[in-house]
Amino acid sequence: MKKKLVILISGTGSNMQAIVQACQNGQLNADVCAIISNTDQAAGILWAQQNNISTHIISHKKYNQRELFDEDLLLCVQQYHADFIILAGFMRVLTPVFIAPLEGKLINIHPSLLPKFKGLHTHARALEAKEHMHGATVHFVTADLDSGPIIMQLGIPILPTDTVESLAKRILKLEHGLYIQAIQMIL
Ligand code: GRF
Repeated sequence: MKKKLVILISGTGSNMQAIVQACQNGQLNADVCAIISNTDQAAGILWAQQNNISTHIISHKKYNQRELFDEDLLLCVQQYHADFIILAGFMRVLTPVFIAPLEGKLINIHPSLLPKFKGLHTHARALEAKEHMHGATVHFVTADLDSGPIIMQLGIPILPTDTVESLAKRILKLEHGLYIQAIQMIL
């Protein structure tokens, strides 16, 4: 039986698109039930609408407390009874209000070889630190930011000619395949 996925985004949603396409072409034995964004500025929402996927925008700006936003986000997610909730470029720090009821079902992709470079600006920090390798990690989400159990990670060499932009571009491409493989494994 096909598993159900809900995907959370904040931006372009290229990882989300790769996952939706993998569900459509049978690479993943799953259906994407809904795409949820915390901003109406997420280009991925338009793509999802054009592809007839249910979408929700829950703007974090309307809440003066993180926990209140998380409560509404949780209610929205729970209506789909999803097997896994996939964070794909979802740029909000989540509180235990959201994480605790979904722990074990909540998965994130982070653009670094965790535990290195948790948080933002990972590509610039990897270059700054003169790392030889950089990559991406798929992990379960826990209350500690970017610190949950690792499901899968993949690294590539940093080239002497790399800039933040060139590295970010290669890593994003790598993320698409990695995320699909990791989801395939947990399914
Ligand atoms: C990805 O690099 C993801 O790892 C990070 O934000 C980026 C989102 O890209 N958290 P996209 O929206 O999937 O294109």
